[in-house]
This record gives sequence, C-alpha cells and structure tokens, in this order.
Amino acid sequence: MRRILVTGGAGFLGSHLVLKLLSNGNHVTVLDDLCTGVRSNVPAGADFIQADVCEPLTGEYDDIYHLACAASPDKYQAQPLQTLRTNFLGTTNVLELARRCRASVLFTSTSEVYGDPQVSPQSEGYWGNVNSFGPRSCYDEGKRVSESLCYSYADCHQVRIRIARIFNTYGPRMAPDDGRVVSNFLVQALRNLPVTIYGDGSQTRSLCYVDDQIRGLLALLQAEGANLEAPANIGNPHEMTVKEIAKAALRICGSSSKLDYRPLPKDDPARRCPDIQRAKDWFGWEPRVSVEEGLQLTADYFRGILN
Ligand SMILES: NC(=O)c1ccc[n+]([C@@H]2O[C@H](COP(=O)([O-])OP(=O)(O)OC[C@H]3O[C@@H](n4cnc5c(N)ncnc54)[C@H](O)[C@@H]3O)[C@@H](O)[C@H]2O)c1
Repeated sequence: MRRILVTGGAGFLGSHLVLKLLSNGNHVTVLDDLCTGVRSNVPAGADFIQADVCEPLTGEYDDIYHLACAASPDKYQAQPLQTLRTNFLGTTNVLELARRCRASVLFTSTSEVYGDPQVSPQSEGYWGNVNSFGPRSCYDEGKRVSESLCYSYADCHQVRIRIARIFNTYGPRMAPDDGRVVSNFLVQALRNLPVTIYGDGSQTRSLCYVDDQIRGLLALLQAEGANLEAPANIGNPHEMTVKEIAKAALRICGSSSKLDYRPLPKDDPARRCPDIQRAKDWFGWEPRVSVEEGLQLTADYFRGILN
C-alpha cells in the first residue's frame, strides 16, 4: 500500500484521482484549502487536511500528486497574488516535502505554458508565446515557474518528478459556475439560456474526458525510463472550434438556446491542440473517450445537479 498525498484533492480532477487511487488500494491524504474545491468531493476513505500549500508541509509519503491551484480563469484571476504564491511557495513546499521523505512528485502543469501559440499542434519542444504582463500571467507564468522549480529540485536534490501539461479536461464534478467552455455551454444549454461565445467562435479547443486524463496522470507517475522528467502533454488531439463545441452542446442537450457573441477576453489563445506523441511513446497513453460520449456523460451530470 502506497502512502499518497494529493494536494488540491477536493477539486474537479483531484476528486476523480483520489477515487482511483483509493480503489487501487492506496492510503490517500488530501490537502486542500477549499478555495475552489468542496469538502464533499473528497471520497470517504481518504484523510483530509484543510490547509494552504503555501504553509510548510509535513508528513511521510511515497508519492505526491500536486494539483493545488485554481484552474478556472475567473477564479485564478480573482486572486492573482494567491495564484502566484500557490505556484511558487506551494510548489516549493511540495518539492521540499518530497525531498525530505524521498517521495515522487507529479506536478499538474497546463497547456497555458504555451500561451497564445504560434505553432499547432503544440509539442513539448515548443517554448510558447506567453504574455508575462497581463491578467492571465499569474497562472501561465506561475505554472512555468513551477515547472522550473521541478527541474531544479530534480537537478539539485534528485527528487523524482513528473510533469503533466494538461489540456482542457472536462467531466462530471466540474463546478457549474467555473466559467470554462464545457461547463458554460452545457449549463446554459440545459437552462435554455443564450450560449455565450467569446469572439467569433473560430478559436479552437481540444477536450479531454476526465477518465482519460486520470489514466494518463497515473501512467505518467508510474512510468520509468530516460527523459521522463521532461514535461508530457496529456490531452485529446481532436481539435474543435469553440462554435463547434457550442453546437455539440446544444444538440446533446436538445436545447433551443441561441448563440450569444461577446468580445474576446485579453490574451485568449487562438489555438489549443496537443501533440501527444511523447505520451504515446513514453507511457503508452492516448485518449479513448470521444467528445460526443464525454459531453453526453457530462450533460447527464449537470442535468442531475440542476434538477
Ligand atoms: N481541468 C483542466 O482542464 C486543467 C487544465 C490544465 C491544468 N489543470 C491543472 O490541474 C489542477 C487541478 O485542476 P482542476 O480542474 O481540478 O481545478 P479545481 O479548481 O477544481 O481544483 C483545484 C483544487 O486546488 C485547491 N487549491 C487551490 N489553491 C490551493 C492552495 N493554495 N492550497 C491548497 N489547496 C488549494 C482548490 O480548493 C481546489 O480543490 C490545477 O493545478 C490546474 O491548474 C487543469
């Protein structure tokens, strides 16, 4: 039985990860300050510590999955300094703890490290096009400094690290108000409210279903081999325009909502599409759930909670 710490385990991805780790027979501790997560997301059977990762961490663990950080742009931009602290101080604390107890660390980075990319699809070798001085930079640059901290702890202290660059992931237990494309569209469609598209809807996103994402994170932490400390994209390379996603949401929900076009927010990326060759070659991962199937499962979830 492995002793596993999941920071951010009361959030959307964390809750799915913790369930899977428990069902695999591990002892799981969740550390979360509940700024965007909820206590009821933590499954029975996991220990729970309500705390901020920016405070020094204690305990003995074999593996640490470091997810703590608000992922929704509305939420991380509401508290930009806390977003920066969570990434710099929080990731430093996680890596210090890992150094002390010789734990492995999986850090959940993001496709946002590529900024508004000038190449597509984005492979890990692309260094990105990030604005360091804008409303999204607390998150984008925060994640980049976290990756850099992982690199330096591996280099200076031989901490075993893995970095997942997560592309847009969706599924049951997303917060209905988190402001990201899938939750926005499905909730608006189910309520027959106007479906809000920022810009003309020609910008692209690539949607990964949560079960595929969790399988990827587990495979990445377990994988052994040369170079595995370098970041790996985990996402679905099926690229869709935002307008196509909105139309799929309307169809799946059987909704009569109209599309409502609004101005594009600053630094919104025009294209998002992962190159997942590294994940395929290094740990045999690729997504299995189609967007149609995943959106259907997520719509069923939202229909349940909205009722
Ligand atoms: N869901 C996605 O599409 C996506 C994409 C790219 C990266 N990620 C990354 O994956 C991780 C999880 O994302 P999510 O979608 O589950 O987001 P989420 O907001 O649902 O979960 C984040 C969790 O971290 C907790 N948290 C935040 N700051 C904390 C702090 N300082 N101390 C302790 N706990 C803290 C929150 O309360 C929440 O439970 C995040 O690091 C995010 O950046 C997610």
